[in-house]
Amino acid sequence: MHRLFINIAPLTTMQLPVMAEVFYAKNVDHILEFFNKLEKGVKPIILGGGSNLIISPEIKNRPILKMEIMGIEIISNERDFVLIKLGAGENWDNFVSRACATNLSGIEAMSAIPGTVGATPVQNVGAYGQEVKDTILNVEVFDIEDKKIKILTNVDCKFSYRDSIFKNEGKNKFVIISVTFKLLKQFPEIPKYVDVKKYFIENNINNPSLIQIRDAIINIRHTKLPDPKIIFNTGSFFKNPIIDKNEALKIKESYLDMPSFTVISNANIENKSSNSIYEQVKIPAGWLIEKVGMKGYDFGKVATYKNNAIVLINKGDASYQDIINAKDKIIASVYEKFGITLETEPEFVN
Ligand code: EPU
Repeated sequence: MHRLFINIAPLTTMQLPVMAEVFYAKNVDHILEFFNKLEKGVKPIILGGGSNLIISPEIKNRPILKMEIMGIEIISNERDFVLIKLGAGENWDNFVSRACATNLSGIEAMSAIPGTVGATPVQNVGAYGQEVKDTILNVEVFDIEDKKIKILTNVDCKFSYRDSIFKNEGKNKFVIISVTFKLLKQFPEIPKYVDVKKYFIENNINNPSLIQIRDAIINIRHTKLPDPKIIFNTGSFFKNPIIDKNEALKIKESYLDMPSFTVISNANIENKSSNSIYEQVKIPAGWLIEKVGMKGYDFGKVATYKNNAIVLINKGDASYQDIINAKDKIIASVYEKFGITLETEPEFVN
């Protein structure tokens, strides 16, 4: 198996400099070889597209397994749906693009999200009303303890808002090898988001095709999220906090413009409605950060993005500690003003 001792900054979209040994897994045998040779007590780091990781230089002695298992296989082609199995190392957006081009729906609103297919179940990637949990049939994993390949069903994955088994009890236990998706042949639901609706009105599109929905999402994301190839970032840096209805009502007394999203049970089904508040509500972290005056805020080597306060950017030569410092300042400021503790969205590896 191919291995290198390198600066892994280019392997992550936040581009923080860290020296580490990287092993490239192109198949299951490589994964087995990697774990067979791993010294006892050493915890490896599994890397996909690196678009949701903040890696500390302290990991020096932890080897990195870079997942490069490729392959796209149609498992079953039925009248109403298709089951497609993809290697964990496949590029997510290439998959979305191909699905749209072949009229398969279910993932079009998750266009232009950086990263690999194998990383999407970890944080239950979502955008514009779609979440990967709604299309994932199962996830094939390598169990590090008994070195066996297992299949986790959708239910086994314990998906919820930006969360899954892979961020909790399955952390350091499973390596995701492949993901099987169920995509539908039926016409897609048009995302209900205001920005998407506005885009179709402005462009005189009445019945958008999958490709037109994809184009709309790409355009909208472009205005709100910086291209990680040009501006180093990990997308949303914070989760949108879900708070009690009464707590939200109190804030709304002082801030009539506060956007809020209804959350129904388990905190994972949402309906966008900016004025009505029910049992629990999701408040956009970007709005909270903007209200404490930290949109486009310069922390030195780190800043919040000028068009979207939820995105933290590495201006070029930031360190892990610079990111931590900026994050702590944002959390403290939001807490001081609103009494809400923001949680980070990317995974911290140290
Ligand atoms: N807002 C502000 N100021 C800001 C940023 C946002 O007031 O600086 C307000 C917006 O006006 C809007 C609301 O906050 O009313 C929500 O903003 P937006 O539609 O941009 O979405 P978001 O809640 O910030 C979430 C996901 C994104 C996903 C979009 C679209 C999370 C943590 N983030 O962002 O996912 O693309 O919705 O569905 O749930 C990611 O996970 O990395 C990610 C980019």
